[in-house]
Amino acid sequence: MAVGGREFRSLDELRRYMAECDRCPLGCTRRNLVFGVGDPHAELMFIGEAPGEREDVLGEPFVGAAGKLLDELLASIGLRRDQVYIANVLKCRPPGNRDPLPTEIAECAPFLDEQIRLIDPKVIATLGKFAAQFVLKTSRGITSLRGKLYRVDGRQVIPIFHPAAALHNPGYRQVLFEDFRRLRAVLARTPEQAAEACAEGREVEPAREGAPRVVECETPRLFDLE
Ligand code: URA
Repeated sequence: MAVGGREFRSLDELRRYMAECDRCPLGCTRRNLVFGVGDPHAELMFIGEAPGEREDVLGEPFVGAAGKLLDELLASIGLRRDQVYIANVLKCRPPGNRDPLPTEIAECAPFLDEQIRLIDPKVIATLGKFAAQFVLKTSRGITSLRGKLYRVDGRQVIPIFHPAAALHNPGYRQVLFEDFRRLRAVLARTPEQAAEACAEGREVEPAREGAPRVVECETPRLFDLE
């Protein structure tokens, strides 16, 4: 989905266009736009929910407590944040860290779609419910989406719990580290292996007109870590 019928040539051009964005009221309450960071040609893109207080101050995603855990998770599979791309569904902080509203997600959606198109990642890892629902075009909850692999527009999509969940409930920590090991296995696949894993998939929801097909892949071994 292009932004107002326009396709951008680079992330920088898109970022400049967004600098003055006031499509939704968050544009008036934010301190900084939190566009995204990392390698503009990354094979792996993370999508979170929305900036929190620290992200709003610094203009960078995942720089607070959840971000520290994300850095640890990345390190556990031998990656640094400059080797991946990190963005959010919303680019501006919802006041008091409340959940994003459907209207805010709808206004911000073309920007994230354009980021995905420009970066063209092989794998997308969604963090938490809002990003999973956005990418997989479903209203299913994160607990039912997690633990499976999906294919959308030729990309592999792996829904993961939001790192903030482990800050409130330490039981999620181990699940997150295990899901990152699965993520590493997904990243290591050749395009042929990736296509094969999803050849037998079934559609998550019937695709709406013009929307991509979202397929849940058959991946028993991948999700069976010892
Ligand atoms: N949580 C998110 O979803 N995104 C951030 O950038 C920070 C915390």
